[in-house]
Amino acid sequence: AARRLVDTFGRVHRDLRISLTDRCSLRCTYCMPEQNLEWLARESVLTADEIVRVATVAARAGVSTFRLTGGEPLLRRDLVDVVARLAALRVGVGSRAGERVSVAMTTNGIGLPRVLDALVEAGLARLNISLDTLRADRFRELTRRDRHADVLAGIEAAAASRLRPLKLNTVAMRGVNDDELVDLTGYALSLGAELRFIEQMPLDAGHTWDRSRMVTREEILAALRRRWELEPVPARGGAPAERWRLHGPGSPDGERTVGVIASVTAPFCGACDRIRLTADGQIRNCLFSTDEFDLLRVLRPTGEPTAEPIDDPIDDPTDAALDALLRRALRAKLPGHGIDDPGFLQP
Ligand code: GTP
Ligand code: 5AD
Ligand code: SF4
Repeated sequence: AARRLVDTFGRVHRDLRISLTDRCSLRCTYCMPEQNLEWLARESVLTADEIVRVATVAARAGVSTFRLTGGEPLLRRDLVDVVARLAALRVGVGSRAGERVSVAMTTNGIGLPRVLDALVEAGLARLNISLDTLRADRFRELTRRDRHADVLAGIEAAAASRLRPLKLNTVAMRGVNDDELVDLTGYALSLGAELRFIEQMPLDAGHTWDRSRMVTREEILAALRRRWELEPVPARGGAPAERWRLHGPGSPDGERTVGVIASVTAPFCGACDRIRLTADGQIRNCLFSTDEFDLLRVLRPTGEPTAEPIDDPIDDPTDAALDALLRRALRAKLPGHGIDDPGFLQP
């Protein structure tokens, strides 16, 4: 029988984040350097078949949520096909055994209006869209691209679709957008979306992260309290965001919520249920881990020709090898990321 994906700290893993490409239509300063980007060679990026194969093994081991990320997932030409094939999978073990998995996507929204209907039709369940500023000039500086109107068009198309809840992600940055926290929240309220503010993490390739530029959870809440009364929402589960009901303009009876993802000052590692698949077929057990577990080697074995595909995939020795690698990655998973420790070294 299938076994769940449990790490050495007893955390059950139900969420696989799949990077569909390392490329992006933006160049956000906190994410990418402006130039000299070394993209993956096209042939080392997983094909749709390979992604679906890994996802099938993961679903059998109890993964119930797949989140498509990037880079920018909308740049993937076969995105609709990938969504349709993932959405057809069923969970193999755990409390949701037998149910369909859910497929979500995190995107910058550029180009979304054109494919949104097809994605919904294919079975996409939810969207999270990044929006750090409401001002076109700031957007251009922050992302080094003049695409603010395209992002807003993507967000508005998503708000008009039936995908719910719609979430907007804002990385809060001192001296960049910290004067817009109330306005951004108001914009989300006007669309019926949930805004989540994110503490900036040291993930930037340019190594420009600086603790003093990070706007903390406390500062974000203080800014929001000037406009709304905040009522904590208790149940959190494995979710990264802490949430509050807003009482005030745009949310009279506390009907709308706002979230804060305090990855640095209040990490949620203890409840982490995520593993990640990189665009080039590596498993990472943490957003901050530098160790990779090479699934590509199993997906594309060299040397001996691979066996004919076997009808019952549970007996397929190479799927067993993929499963074993997922478990090896989990055995190596640490209890937390330690980025707020004084001695933390950036990856
Ligand atoms: P849902 O809660 O399912 O809607 O998605 P999500 O919030 O997990 O996904 P999203 O891609 O929107 O990520 C938003 C932010 O969550 C990211 O910018 C990170 O700050 C944070 N995050 C996501 N995954 C991890 C993780 O594994 N570790 C840490 N520390 N932060 C994460
Ligand atoms: N710190 C915090 N959030 C980040 N994101 C990208 N880089 C960072 C970082 N260094 C956010 C994006 C997107 C989400 C998936 O991650 O803005 O909303
Ligand atoms: Fe692209 Fe997201 Fe990185 Fe911005 S943060 S450059 S939108 S991948």
